[in-house]
Parts: sequence; structure tokens; C-alpha cells
Amino acid sequence: MALRIIMMGAPGAGKGTQAQRIAATYGVPHISTGDIFRAHLKDGTELGRKVRGYLDAGELVPDEVTCDIVAGRLAEADCANGYVLDGFPRSIPQAEALGRFLDARNEQIDVVIDVAVPDEEIVGRLTARRTCKKCGAIYNLKFSPPASGDGTRCDRPGCDGELSQRGDDQEETIRQRLRVYHETTEPLLAYYDEHGILKSVPGSGLSPDGVFEKIEEILSAAGLS
Ligand code: AP5
Ligand code: MG
Ligand code: ZN
Repeated sequence: MALRIIMMGAPGAGKGTQAQRIAATYGVPHISTGDIFRAHLKDGTELGRKVRGYLDAGELVPDEVTCDIVAGRLAEADCANGYVLDGFPRSIPQAEALGRFLDARNEQIDVVIDVAVPDEEIVGRLTARRTCKKCGAIYNLKFSPPASGDGTRCDRPGCDGELSQRGDDQEETIRQRLRVYHETTEPLLAYYDEHGILKSVPGSGLSPDGVFEKIEEILSAAGLS
């Protein structure tokens, strides 16, 4: 049975943290549009040059560009049994484009999971985020630092990659990302609620593992696991 999930939530809510766990547990690919764009920035591709200004400013990449990238990715063979989308869709036009893509293939999204975190927690969280350059593991110097070493290297077995800070995790850019989230992305919660597939989990006051337990409960109650 295919499993198609959308992770929703403000910048820093924990979409990536939870999507990595879902992907590892249920064997579906984790598709993060932010990660795709950052890989292009790093590789200096034409797409990377096109999107850099938007990422640096905390603005959304134009819908057309983003939807093309996602449609290409979802058509790849490893998506046949589903996927967990992280950071897409992020606007009503993106959700409509995804809907058309799925309709044409006679497929549907099973569940949209909103990870809810109050705005006032976001800035502190994101300024302390670090990501492994090698495997992409997500850490937090305050809330979930690497368990071993001096806090500058990844502690996943066999990795030892260097941890780095994202260019858009600066206070001013974080505040702009939050504004964009409330204005353009948050309306998707009502959109998917109307479709009857929206679920919500608390994204703060619980550890990442605690949040993941809530997600597993939702998936199992919906007969999806
Ligand atoms: P994107 O990469 O998607 O960034 P974002 O939405 O701002 O979200 P983040 O990745 O910052 O946060 P997250 O929710 O994944 O949290 P994480 O798990 O890391 O997008 C970046 C940019 O790309 C956009 O600004 C835009 O320019 C462009 N873009 C991307 N998609 C686009 C689209 N569809 N359309 C147009 N443009 C697009 O966790 C955050 C921190 O919290 C970590 O340190 C983590 O360790 C910690 N943490 C996690 N869970 C907990 C917990 N339970 N308690 C305490 N700390 C926790
Ligand atoms: Mg993320
Ligand atoms: Zn690593």
C-alpha cells in the first residue's frame, strides 16, 4: 500500500526532523524542497543561481519553478509506493498543482500532518539548529545536541560529519520566513481541513521522539501503518 504524507508547519517546527523519522520507519523517500534547493546552491547549478536570492531573503521561490521540480521528483521510480513531502506545498497554487498531478495519476494524499509550534519559540530554536554536512541529520545545540563529542560533529554511527549552520537561520531572515508562512502557507491548513485529511501534532513541549510517537498513533489510527 502506498503512503503519501505532507508535513506542514512553520519554519523550524520540526518538519524535517519528523520527515526523516517517517522515511526511515516506513521506507518512503523524504522529499524536502528546501533540501533540493540547497543542494543546487551548493553545486552551483543554474537552478541554484535562480533560487539563491529567494532563499537568502526568506521569500518563496516562484510557484512555477517549485512545482516543476516537484513534479519531476514525484515521477521518479522510488516514489511509486509513496513519499513524505516536507516544505511543499506552501501556497494554494502549489496545492492545486499537486492536486492536478495526483488526479492525473489517480492517486491521493493520505494525510497532512501539521506540526504546531508557537512563533515565540521559533527564533531561539532556529538560531541553535545545526545540520550534518555529510548525512543531513538535524541537531539543536539547545534541545538535541549530538550525544557524543564536543558538539561540532555528527554522532550517527559511522558518519562523524561536520555540523553547519544554514544561511537563512539568521534572526531577521527567520522573522521574514515566519511572515511568509503566516501569509501564504498557513491558509493551506484550512484547505486540507476541508479535504478532511488534516491532522495536527504538538511540535513543542515534547522531544522529537515524543512528537514522532504522536505521528505513529495518527498513521495507525488511519489504518496507514
Ligand atoms: P525549508 O528548508 O523548507 O525551510 P523551512 O520551512 O523554513 O523549515 P525548516 O527547514 O527551517 O524547519 P523544519 O520544520 O524542517 O524544522 P527542523 O526539523 O529542521 O525552506 C527553505 C527555503 O526554501 C524557503 O524559505 C524558500 O525560500 C524555499 N522553499 C522551500 N520550499 C519551497 C516551496 N514549496 N515553495 C517556494 N519556496 C520554497 O527543526 C528545526 C530545529 O528544531 C532543529 O534544530 C531541530 O533539532 C529542533 N527540533 C525539532 N523538533 C524539536 C522538538 N520536538 N523540540 C525541540 N527542538 C526540536
Ligand atoms: Mg526543514
Ligand atoms: Zn551525519
